[in-house]
Amino acid sequence: MSGIIERYRAYLDLGDIPAVTLGEGGTPLVHWATWGIQDIYLKLEGTNPTGSFKDRGMTVAVSVAKAQGARGVICASTGNTAASAAAYAARAGLPAFVVVPEGRVTREKMMQALAHGAKTLSVSGNFDQALAAVRRLAQERGDIALVNSVNPWRLRGQETGAYEIVDELGAPPAALVLPVGNAGNISAYFHGFRRYGRGIPQMFGIQAAGAAAMVEGRDLENPETIATAIRIGKPASRHLAQEAVLVSQGQFLAVSDQDILRAQQELAHGGVFVEPASATAYAGLKVLRDRGALPPGPIVAILTGTGLKDGQTPFQWIDQTTYPTSADALGSHIERLLEEGAARVAH
Ligand code: F0G
Repeated sequence: MSGIIERYRAYLDLGDIPAVTLGEGGTPLVHWATWGIQDIYLKLEGTNPTGSFKDRGMTVAVSVAKAQGARGVICASTGNTAASAAAYAARAGLPAFVVVPEGRVTREKMMQALAHGAKTLSVSGNFDQALAAVRRLAQERGDIALVNSVNPWRLRGQETGAYEIVDELGAPPAALVLPVGNAGNISAYFHGFRRYGRGIPQMFGIQAAGAAAMVEGRDLENPETIATAIRIGKPASRHLAQEAVLVSQGQFLAVSDQDILRAQQELAHGGVFVEPASATAYAGLKVLRDRGALPPGPIVAILTGTGLKDGQTPFQWIDQTTYPTSADALGSHIERLLEEGAARVAH
């Protein structure tokens, strides 16, 4: 079946409203490694139609907005919500308005929103100020649907990630590790596991050290991190996320931008290319392993967005060496590179 609404309609309380869908969900759960008694799985949410996990919630939020006769949709965004809202609104034939923090959203995400025809407005503040503004506006107007994760339909849709993991593993994993920005996704997974009724994994929410509002237990005025998707100082779902971590006996954890870049590189060198916000989860997973804080059993890390979402940051670690050659010399060059590679592996 195509799309999470058709697959999980019974869990979503949507009645029989038509689905605005792009075939989201059903993302790969890849066995990445075995670390002693832990099997590590990566859920590749970047394979969703617009390249991030946001599509799970957006198909539901936009379907409901359309069914309720909204004149359009609006969101504040660090980029992925904007791209997703733009695509699903386009699918629904509704106008989309996306409000972004000026100069802090990657070109690729801006391009997606614009390509789908969204009206894009940039504000000089950060994401938190943009969100406050669109919340006010949506409330005042009443005819434009707010599709940020403060819209409960967004979280309902994102719960389906948890359903898929249980369906595939046959049971919930021992732990779930995911990046936290506005704190919607960790809350959605928690409620998803709860609703599915097979048990709840320990939930670990990983933040960038410069934007670690959950770890620090307070709002931040000037969040800063290379992982622009989670450059958020006032998580809107703070209380839900706190409950998720408390009840599941997990924890919040901060990792440095350096750790995030290293994690992005390590994943890429294993064939998995994700954006920095997603690499944050993997960086956190490694810290938890080193501290012996992971429970035994399967562990799932949610990799929220594809690496193609950010075409700049990887150049901080990519080896850009290219080798000038000629048709005649190609054979000997390749032989030399193979030998160098063999020497590196033997080291
Ligand atoms: N990973 C990526 C790639 C994201 O884009 C986001 C949030 C998160 C993780 C964090 O998820 O906010 O539910 O805790 N991006 C939002 C946006 C804020 O506007 O695209 P969260």
